[in-house]
Amino acid sequence: MTDALSTTTKGHTSQPPVHIACIMDGNGRWAKRRGLPRTAGHTAGEEALAAVVRAAAQRNIGWLTVFGFSTENWVRPRAEVRHILGLHRKLFGRIDEMNQNNARINWIGRPFDEPGARTPVYVQRAIRKAMADTEHNTGLVVTVAFDYGSRAELVRAARACKDTDSPIDAETIDHKMYAPDLPPVDVLVRTSGETRISNFLLWQINGAAVYFTEKTWPDFDSDELDRALKLVRSN
Ligand code: FPP
Repeated sequence: MTDALSTTTKGHTSQPPVHIACIMDGNGRWAKRRGLPRTAGHTAGEEALAAVVRAAAQRNIGWLTVFGFSTENWVRPRAEVRHILGLHRKLFGRIDEMNQNNARINWIGRPFDEPGARTPVYVQRAIRKAMADTEHNTGLVVTVAFDYGSRAELVRAARACKDTDSPIDAETIDHKMYAPDLPPVDVLVRTSGETRISNFLLWQINGAAVYFTEKTWPDFDSDELDRALKLVRSN
């Protein structure tokens, strides 16, 4: 396995690990500009994400959390949804690559057995396998939000609080999030010139810096990642 420190970009080793979250917008526009179908934009988006994972691992980023598919995205045309699901299987299948990057795969979203949850069984399997096959890695934690909505996460947390004897405070709510170990977000990125937050990590982005860029997600690269990092790091 590659030693994370030996591949770390100069200057980043001394920096504390940070949590970067990305709303990966603009795949459709990227494709349209090239006269390609929207699905080609999503394919390019998945490849861009794989490259960002490599870049993040080299920059001592502790956590990279990405919005892969939202609870609202199911209304998209069926063929597009099928394509995006296939790309999730591809991403969760990048196990050798994740291991080379010492990166652990994680997932957040509506628990598979919860009423209303929609993750198909083949994606569930891919998620479970990716998590199991990368759990020994000690570097970057890559969390993919799939069938995820922040309001659903918060409603579930509120309900779970009702069933505990603990006082209902920020700490208790923290523990009821889908991934209680996920630290607060340091920088939230949204691509493609959109300046909305949408329904992503509303609880966890408290205090985060926000990096908006005109670049569409498939064009988001390591230089862009460095620009986002500048909001919280001095070099
Ligand atoms: C928005 O583009 C993007 C999404 C629907 C979610 C992100 C999906 C990917 C990056 C594809 C693969 C990702 C994973 C995690 C496997 P859009 O279609 O809304 O673009 P538009 O606003 O230009 O139409």
